[in-house]
Amino acid sequence: MTEPEVVLLEQRGRVAVVTMNRPEKRNALDGPMRCAFLGVMDRIRRDTSTRAVVITGAGDKAFIAGADISEFEGRSPVDQYRVMRLPTVFDAIEKFPKPVIAAVNGFCLGGGMELALACDIRIASSNAKFGQPEVNLGIIPGGGGTQRLPRIIGLGHALRMILTGDMITAEDALRLGLVAEVVPAEVMLDRAVAIGELIASKSPVAVAAAKEATRASMSLPLDEGLRLETALFQLCFSSEDKAEGVRAFLEKRAANFTGR
Ligand code: COA
Repeated sequence: MTEPEVVLLEQRGRVAVVTMNRPEKRNALDGPMRCAFLGVMDRIRRDTSTRAVVITGAGDKAFIAGADISEFEGRSPVDQYRVMRLPTVFDAIEKFPKPVIAAVNGFCLGGGMELALACDIRIASSNAKFGQPEVNLGIIPGGGGTQRLPRIIGLGHALRMILTGDMITAEDALRLGLVAEVVPAEVMLDRAVAIGELIASKSPVAVAAAKEATRASMSLPLDEGLRLETALFQLCFSSEDKAEGVRAFLEKRAANFTGR
């Protein structure tokens, strides 16, 4: 019997749906899954017809229940150092030139939470549960959780989650601004794809520039961020998409963006 693919890729119009597929292990992220994920993202990056990505978890129990804890046992500090020097799924998502949407179904814990934090938009099904439970294992978040979580929900709420390891509900996540929307589980993937399609109807040049400029606000001082915004704004002015967008508005018709 052949092994099932650990990361699935399905095309829905101009949106790529990436499914983490180890439901029997609550889609825990192990080495082969990280590797397969990076390969799939590379394919999507090169496919110009794909304009947005949705990431979700197989089954109805989990988005991703964290790093695969069984890999930690017996791993030496040097082995761990080597693993953490490899290209990470978190950086791949954050730096991805197309928008990435996390469609969070069920448990979203540890490295799964950190993967969702690296995404541009998060939506959750009403049964989703979020947590950074690393302290329960005697470790801390290592995929960006200590840095991205406070930037998204603020220091106090982030510290509460990271220091207690407690899970929060989808409704709590909505209240804290961790997710943009909570929807019933049965419609969540369709909703995430619809958001992706909405973005896909915009100029890919503008969308990529908007992602880069907005993300830069997390790490750049204001004056440098404003300079980057100005440079990217000017870049948009050299695009065919800008000419088409402005012309379409003046001609009272829908724009047809090509990404050039
Ligand atoms: N790493 C490795 N295996 C994991 C895992 C993880 N992060 N999360 C779940 N699994 C495995 C379980 O070991 C179990 O395997 P088994 O059937 O071979 O025994 C299987 O997935 C199902 O998990 P189970 O605990 O029985 O399911 P549940 O629905 O009752 O609970 C969780 C789900 C997610 C609450 C629970 O599995 C859990 O707490 N996982 C660890 C979460 C975590 O600490 N993540 C951070 C890692 S740094």
